[in-house]
Amino acid sequence: MPSWVCLPVLAQRTPRYNQRMDISPYRQRRVSLIERMQRAGGGVAVIPTAPERVRNRDAHFPYRADSYFQYLTGFNEPEAVLVLVAGDRPAAPQSILFCREKNLEREIWDGFRYGPEAAREAFGFDAAQPVDEFDARIAELLADQPALWFSLGHDAAWDTRITVALNAVRGQSRAGKHAPAAVRDVRCELDAMRLVKDASEIGLMRRAAEISAAAHIRAMRFTRPGRHEYEVEAELMHEFRRHGCEAPAYTSIVAGGANACVLHYVSNDQPLRDGDLLLIDAAGEFSGYASDITRTFPVNGRFSGAQADVYQLVLVAQAAAIAAVKPGVGFLAPHEAALRILVQGMLDLKLLSGTPESVLESESYKRFYMHRTSHWIGKDVHDAGEYRQGEVWTPLAPGMALTIEPGCYIRPADDVPEAFWNIGVRIEDDVVVTDTGCEIITQGAPKTIADIEALMQENRNA
Ligand code: GLY
Ligand code: MN
Ligand code: MN
Repeated sequence: MPSWVCLPVLAQRTPRYNQRMDISPYRQRRVSLIERMQRAGGGVAVIPTAPERVRNRDAHFPYRADSYFQYLTGFNEPEAVLVLVAGDRPAAPQSILFCREKNLEREIWDGFRYGPEAAREAFGFDAAQPVDEFDARIAELLADQPALWFSLGHDAAWDTRITVALNAVRGQSRAGKHAPAAVRDVRCELDAMRLVKDASEIGLMRRAAEISAAAHIRAMRFTRPGRHEYEVEAELMHEFRRHGCEAPAYTSIVAGGANACVLHYVSNDQPLRDGDLLLIDAAGEFSGYASDITRTFPVNGRFSGAQADVYQLVLVAQAAAIAAVKPGVGFLAPHEAALRILVQGMLDLKLLSGTPESVLESESYKRFYMHRTSHWIGKDVHDAGEYRQGEVWTPLAPGMALTIEPGCYIRPADDVPEAFWNIGVRIEDDVVVTDTGCEIITQGAPKTIADIEALMQENRNA
């Protein structure tokens, strides 16, 4: 193997891709953030992208830009910083990108880089400068500003760099310059913005969902007793990549039999057995947006009686949770709707004893259902956004996106009917809140028992 194969290669969008990109949503988000900063007294925001990370020796992890930075810029090169001047005093509002300079030698090895001038034009910034000039320039930009907006505590190296910049401004006090009196967390404003998705984000999330649903169909068609979890994982990955997903949105969980009862099972190295269920929690990231889908189905294509009982319970709980999603209800409403069904079902199946009230009160259901039904989803699979606002759960509003993912995980135990041992079921879809309810963007992946069995039967007859 030639030595250069081992050198780090940065995953990047080609220039052609970015030229096609509609930059108006990014520009609009920068304007919105500046307006929010102005309402809070103005200042300067510093939003760095993510650092590159070494995987081992000189090989890097695939590069992924920071989600906040990407949300505001659409710019995917490493070593970049966005600075927003809210423009009260002394300067007019402006957005400035700091990025790597063009470098033909490095571009031969690592690929295209924009350089400041082309990046400014392609992405619509007011100005762009070489990132090597950031430290000197930020000290000038921060002088006499009321506040620095920054994600303090997120990255130790950046905390140090920003402290040095603030001290550089303080060092000019005898020249009459003032350092910002306040350091504010820019993530608070950005999290509120990211919680409600705009039309371009919903479009990308629909595409991520569509591709991910196709991957689950492919996995169902492929699965047979004797194949391995990692072979199914490879089918998922094939479908993500062939439709343009950059990567899985998170590490795929491909869990046969008892492995389904390990919530974060990622070894994916076991053979699939006749008579077991297979739980797959896997989805792609498309253009910086995650999907998150779980389907559970029989390895041999037919649910057993006990498997069907548990599966149908979780499916009905999921339907109840989805029906609860509408504007104005609190974030927890879908979870509470799912829980009522699951608790009654656990009693009916004799997994638990007592009454629905006593089970809810004692939380004994947590033995079989130990996670929540939902989380926000967007650029990050567990997306930005507050779950509570003061004393109340965040009220749902049109444009918010969340998962609906009830489950039931039954580990072997003396007081549990043996037919249910090692059955682990989760069914997960992604929904976007609409004016009247919600849109299920992941519904391309089959989930009724009849639909799954029919699809897997096609598979067997092929
Ligand atoms: N796949 C991660 C989750 O369901 O939250
Ligand atoms: Mn999820
Ligand atoms: Mn999931």
